Formats: sequence, C-alpha cells, structure tokens
Amino acid sequence: MELRNKDLLAIRDLSPEEILLILDTAESMKEISTRDIKKVPTLRGKTVINLFYEPSTRTRTSFEIAGKRLSADVINISSATSSTTKGETLKDTGRNLQAMNPDLIVIRHAAAGAPKILADALPVPVINAGDGAHEHPTQALLDAFTIREKKKTLAGITVAIIGDITHSRVARSNIALLQKMGAEVRLSGPYTMVPPYIEALGVSFIPDIGEAIRDADVIMMLRIQLERQQHGLFPTVREYARFFGLNRERLQRAKPDVLIMHPGPLNRGVEISPDVADGPYSIILDQVTNGVAVRMALLYLLIGK
Ligand code: CP
Repeated sequence: MELRNKDLLAIRDLSPEEILLILDTAESMKEISTRDIKKVPTLRGKTVINLFYEPSTRTRTSFEIAGKRLSADVINISSATSSTTKGETLKDTGRNLQAMNPDLIVIRHAAAGAPKILADALPVPVINAGDGAHEHPTQALLDAFTIREKKKTLAGITVAIIGDITHSRVARSNIALLQKMGAEVRLSGPYTMVPPYIEALGVSFIPDIGEAIRDADVIMMLRIQLERQQHGLFPTVREYARFFGLNRERLQRAKPDVLIMHPGPLNRGVEISPDVADGPYSIILDQVTNGVAVRMALLYLLIGK
C-alpha cells in the first residue's frame, strides 16, 4: 500500500488505512534511532528542504534528524534569514526552491493554507509542519503513534483535549485523527477559547476540567497560544492556571493508568504544573522521541518508495 496524495497537508486527506500505514512504518523506523550507527541509505541522493516561517524546536529538528537518519541531504531555511525579508512572496520562494530540484519541502507558516498554496503551485511533495490555527498533521500522527504504543489501540479510548482549542492546530488535527480511528474525544477549556458549534465535529465539550478528565485514558494539555490570541480571553495567567491548569490535585480525579500529553513548548505552571509535566504519568518526551520515527516514516512513504 502507498499514500494516495503527493502531499501531506491535513489529516482529513488521510484514510484510516493510510494512517495505519504511517504508524506501522514508523514502528520499523523507530528501531533505527536505537542503533549505534543511526543511519540507513534509504533516501541517499534525495534533498529535503525545511522551510520554516515560524519558530520551532521539536518539529524542525526532528524533520532534520529524520531526513539525515535516512541519508537525505537536509537544508534548513528560516524566514528571518531568507529573501522573504526583502518582500519575496511564498509562491516565488517556492518556485525558486523548486528550480533547485529538491525532492520534498516541509513548511511551517503562520498563515492557514500556506502549505496548500505551495503544494498546488509546485510538483514537489509538500508536508505541512503547522499552518496557523489550521492543522499540524505530523503532530497528530506522532501523538497517535505514542498513544497506540502505550495503550495498544486507538479505537475505544477516551482522550480529553484541554485548553486553548480555538487557536490550536494540534487540537484540530488530533480531533480529526482520533475520530477517524474510533477514539472518543472530549474538549475542555475556557468558553472564550472554544469555537462555537464545536460539538458539530462529533466531540463533547465539558466546561469543568475535573469532569473532563474523569475516566479519560489520555489527557492532552494544550499550550496557551498567546501569539495567536487577541487579548482578554482570560483575566490573568494565575487564574487560568487555577481553573484550567493540570496539577497534582486535579489529577487525582483521573484514571490510575492515565497518560499525560502535551505537544510542547510547555508553559510550566500555567496549563500544566512542573510536577505533572515531569511526573510518572507524563509521556511528553516519548512524544518527542516518536516524532523522529513518524517523520522518518512520512519521508520514506512520500519520496522513498
Ligand atoms: N509541537 C511542536 O510543534 O513544537 P515546535 O513548535 O517546537 O515545533
């Protein structure tokens, strides 16, 4: 089986079978990162461009490591040091990069839809590494991989996604993926950070975080996206932490085998307390480890076969 599309732009473009193919391929890729020599020749001679118009630690680095472990040449471009600062348009940047014959472009952009503009304009495969508040499909895939690794299944599990839903591309991609794979999704957060009519997506909204986490198999905390918010969505950071933060006391309502996830970067002491982030239920760093395997799988499936 192969992926049907040239690009990976959004979870809605993937069938459940394609999601399983990516997760299963990532399982074999994960082993490579445990070897002494963490390199295989699969993508030798291929060129991957990481085009990042927004800051990133995990996604950019893991795409770079993923490409290099598969022997691809990886080029990193950030908007701050590119000709974007001289007024070049996204399409023109894309056409000029295409002229150098890369095999794949990974793009992160603050504007929703930017990866699709590039994908429609260029013959090269494009992976969306996060576009505005729209989608972050590789994050949802690595989250699903991590949940499946720990719980052995995605079907039938309950995932509580808590925090700034409105501005979260991670939430949007996770809702789409988890529903496709048969999981139940609950949302919680301040009313000001949850889009109206969210239940039309087939998820439930539970305003009280204590109720939302009760009986959940997985709690996925979201970062407050201050860079995407108009001001005034919550009175103070302290109040947010008190009413919507995950701390040890609140965690007592959760199941004894609950998993705590967060896409990072953490606002420690705001949406999650340090002892919970670093505690025994946290699988936050497993998510980061698995991000490399999932991105290796995607590079292989898009340009390695
Ligand atoms: N989870 C995530 O996208 O992190 P970065 O912004 O560091 O890439």
